[in-house]
Amino acid sequence: MKVLLINGSPHEHGCTYTALRKVANILESEGIQTKIFHIGKGAVHGCIACGNCRKTGTCIFEDDVLADLAKECSAADGFIIGSPVYFAGPNGALCALLDRLFFAYGSFMKGKPAAAVVSCRRGGASAAFERLNKYFTLKQMPVVSSQYWNSVHGSSPADVLKDKEGLQTMRTLGRNMAWLLNSIAAGNIPRPESEPIAVTSFADGK
Ligand SMILES: Cc1cc2nc3c(=O)[nH]c(=O)nc-3n(C[C@H](O)[C@H](O)[C@H](O)COP(=O)(O)O)c2cc1C
Repeated sequence: MKVLLINGSPHEHGCTYTALRKVANILESEGIQTKIFHIGKGAVHGCIACGNCRKTGTCIFEDDVLADLAKECSAADGFIIGSPVYFAGPNGALCALLDRLFFAYGSFMKGKPAAAVVSCRRGGASAAFERLNKYFTLKQMPVVSSQYWNSVHGSSPADVLKDKEGLQTMRTLGRNMAWLLNSIAAGNIPRPESEPIAVTSFADGK
């Protein structure tokens, strides 16, 4: 089994990475394979609502990291999505990617366990965490929890390493993710059939 950890910070080895690394260490110690995928610093398109993905199954933009990310997602059994907190939300580049990932390649995510992890200097962690959880709960993904809302605090990796409670929250999250993945594998119970989505944009269903 494999968990993909997405580092949604421009800093490859910054605070978000430091938190994700702690989760990955625990997952690996529990026999789960891991990969940390860094979204990088390159330009990322926002979704332009063109509908191309509905027709072809792929995003119309192929010149950023989305295609590589989608490939990694298709091979993963679970996800940890990490982000720095920017103005009390996740990094905008990460949200642009996730909008397109979940819209165009949602089948790679659907039903697989996931959790968000955020890193902030001081405030806004809970709002950013909440925002990321919205992706999971739209795609029937069991959300893995920990002993607190998954955040660490700091402006540098050295700060994060001093956040003992934050790090413990990451370790607990790793153990809970490993437990859920192993339980799902042991149970081997097929997921329930999905009904076709009844799209209603207005309360009267028209
Ligand atoms: C554009 C920008 C906005 C930020 N907004 C917040 C914020 O709202 N709250 C906060 O506590 N820290 C904020 N920060 C600080 C980062 O979230 C924090 O240092 C984070 O741990 C950096 O993670 P990284 O090293 O993985 O990039 C902001 C940083 C930047 C660059």
